[in-house]
Amino acid sequence: MSDAAPQASGSVPLIRLRNIVKVYGEGGLAFKALKGFDLDIEQGDFVAIMGPSGSGKSTAMNTLGCLDRPTSGEYLFKGVHVEDLDRDERARLRRRYFGFVFQGFHLLPRTTAQENVELPLLYRGETNAARREAAAKALEAVGLKGWEHHTPAELSGGQQQRVAIARAIVSNPVVLLADEPTGNLDTQRSEEIMELLWKLNSEQGITVLMVTHEPEMAAYARRIVRFKDGLLDSDTRNEPFMLRRAARSAPVQPQEGH
Ligand SMILES: Nc1ncnc2c1ncn2[C@@H]1O[C@H](COP(=O)(O)OP(=O)(O)OP(=O)(O)O)[C@@H](O)[C@H]1O
Ligand SMILES: [Mg+2]
Repeated sequence: MSDAAPQASGSVPLIRLRNIVKVYGEGGLAFKALKGFDLDIEQGDFVAIMGPSGSGKSTAMNTLGCLDRPTSGEYLFKGVHVEDLDRDERARLRRRYFGFVFQGFHLLPRTTAQENVELPLLYRGETNAARREAAAKALEAVGLKGWEHHTPAELSGGQQQRVAIARAIVSNPVVLLADEPTGNLDTQRSEEIMELLWKLNSEQGITVLMVTHEPEMAAYARRIVRFKDGLLDSDTRNEPFMLRRAARSAPVQPQEGH
């Protein structure tokens, strides 16, 4: 898909899913993990995806991130039918528009933070100098300036997840997908990661789709979608925690007319 990809009208959402079904396995062993759900996601949204274990959250995320193709149903990204793309086309779309963060960080061991973050740009064929500069900028954006030459083993869990987020944003994605990004972190580290995701969403306009089991982490989102048994159970707007907190701590305005 080129940069001039059809963006037909203002009414086309960034992502439109229609009647998405995912079946794993075949015949008697076939299992329907997603049973036909619809979902629209606008650019700039911050969606927390919740629901019981096995309800289809990760399967839905893999579909959303173009990692996997639905068994049936429509997926439109910027108005383009993803389900019609072949493997290579989907990979190109992913590299161009998506960033991924996982619960287990998935960093290369014995490889510095800087090199880990440069990786997506290497796949894109960018020059040494361009890679170095973009990775340094991404690491600074996640608060890791000065840690560029440390390997994962020399970093805390929270820092490793920051490196993973830097790697996800180094290619300027439109959408950041995070599957339980705070699942391996303690409360304080989790809050720091959520503040970082909020900053990327509210300041850089990156659309964030995040799976979480924790209501405290979902509270950072603008919208909360719940899965149950392979279907959407609820979809509600949420006043993001960071906005509520800012409103609470805002100075009281001096009264006029006295
Ligand atoms: N590759 C696969 N092959 C067969 N079945 C699968 C596969 N991946 C997932 N499933 C099944 O599909 C269902 C949904 O799985 P999924 O991983 O999407 O759940 P989840 O909501 O992310 O759960 P959790 O909260 O535990 O991560 C589960 O019953 C799971 O066993
Ligand atoms: Mg999961």
